[in-house]
Amino acid sequence: MFVIFTSCETRSTRITYPLPDFNMNTPTRHLPRLLALAALFSSSAAFAEADLSEAFLPMFQPLPAQASAPGNELTEAKINLGRQLFFETRISAGGAMSCNSCHKLDTYGQDNLPFSPGHEGKLGGRSSPSVYNAALHLAQFWDGRAPSVEEQAKGPVLNPVEMGMPSASFVVRVLKSIPGYVTSFKAAFPGEADPVTYDNFGKAVGAFERKLLTPSKWDAFLRGDKNALTDEEKKGFSTFATTGCVTCHNGVGVGGAMYQKLGLAKPWPGLKDNGRSEVTKNPAEKAFFKVPSLRNITETAPYLHDGSVKKLDEMVKKMAEHQLAKQLTDEQTASIITFLKTLKGDLPTDYIKAPQLPESGPDTPKA
Ligand code: HEC
Ligand code: HEC
Repeated sequence: MFVIFTSCETRSTRITYPLPDFNMNTPTRHLPRLLALAALFSSSAAFAEADLSEAFLPMFQPLPAQASAPGNELTEAKINLGRQLFFETRISAGGAMSCNSCHKLDTYGQDNLPFSPGHEGKLGGRSSPSVYNAALHLAQFWDGRAPSVEEQAKGPVLNPVEMGMPSASFVVRVLKSIPGYVTSFKAAFPGEADPVTYDNFGKAVGAFERKLLTPSKWDAFLRGDKNALTDEEKKGFSTFATTGCVTCHNGVGVGGAMYQKLGLAKPWPGLKDNGRSEVTKNPAEKAFFKVPSLRNITETAPYLHDGSVKKLDEMVKKMAEHQLAKQLTDEQTASIITFLKTLKGDLPTDYIKAPQLPESGPDTPKA
């Protein structure tokens, strides 16, 4: 029996599946075996298309109702506070940026730009990923440098090219000067003597993000409704699976569960970003990135950490060529995209409505 890490409400959640020995956190060793499995299935006439998809289904899980959080209970008070903080611009230098500026919740949690203009229009070196379903990833950022959404949320506020605040203590000063926030932090963190802290800011935003989930017909299918997908869509899944995409894009996010090298089979042209190796200082992980989730992928162009690929058909063909050493026909590419479209979920329209923000106090400082 073998062990697969699910992409992780808690990173210790393990589920056993009847699949080849394949550990998603150190996948490279096992990749050849899984690719061999895919090749075996794709060349075996004994398998009908329907059987094919069935064989790969255990690699996927439907979205849970919430991305549960060890150490961060998801209470309504905390989530409501987190929603306000997500839309809060007074915690940015210049008072113009919020999380929602780059992760627009009504456009699938991102901004459809290669790079996002932050404080004073400055551009960072990476494209904004979606915040939807992100809490389920094995870690946050393209290089996985933050372990959780709670930790991640504390980064952009102080990042000079994002929200540009001078320090965590300055952010806390702003929050403490707004009477409505003092009340809300008390309600969200009951029993704490000094609830308005930068850590609790991260926890509240994280709690809000843990319910930013977009279930789609793919989830209905995985939950057992075999009619949730059309025959064309099921065929698309077979093409996706037997081409080998599932070796990296799997789990609850159809991605987000491991790091992999960009250009594994054939070097990626013009790659400047070292990715994961900058975090781990392990040269063997140069050009490794978190395998992105493919949920809502039709809505989140441009693609890759640098937003360098604009079209989904081009992206799919490049993936086949550079990750799997395969050339896809237009027909195969279209078939894969037919499957990818099933990953487009519904936005939780009520949950993401811009909240009313509490009024500034007499001494609310500006950065
Ligand atoms: C100026 C634009 C900008 C702002 C403002 C911003 N972000 Fe981001 N966000 C990014 C970029 C760019 C990345 C990717 C950076 C990287 O991987 O190195 C990112 C990454 C993330 C991720 C990781 C998602 C994943 O799949 O790895 C989350 C979650 C996130 N941001 C949440 C937030 C929250 C919460 C706030 C507000 C506190 C915020 N962001 C503010 C641009 C922004
Ligand atoms: C060996 C692992 C691996 C395989 C196999 C693989 N991918 Fe990827 N994929 C990645 C990585 C890593 C990235 C992100 C690289 C980056 O951002 O620079 C990525 C990015 C993508 C993206 C862009 C996502 C985004 O949000 O920008 C799409 C779409 C995609 N892959 C689809 C596919 C398809 C379709 C296949 C099969 C033809 C496939 N991938 C095979 C590892 C893989």
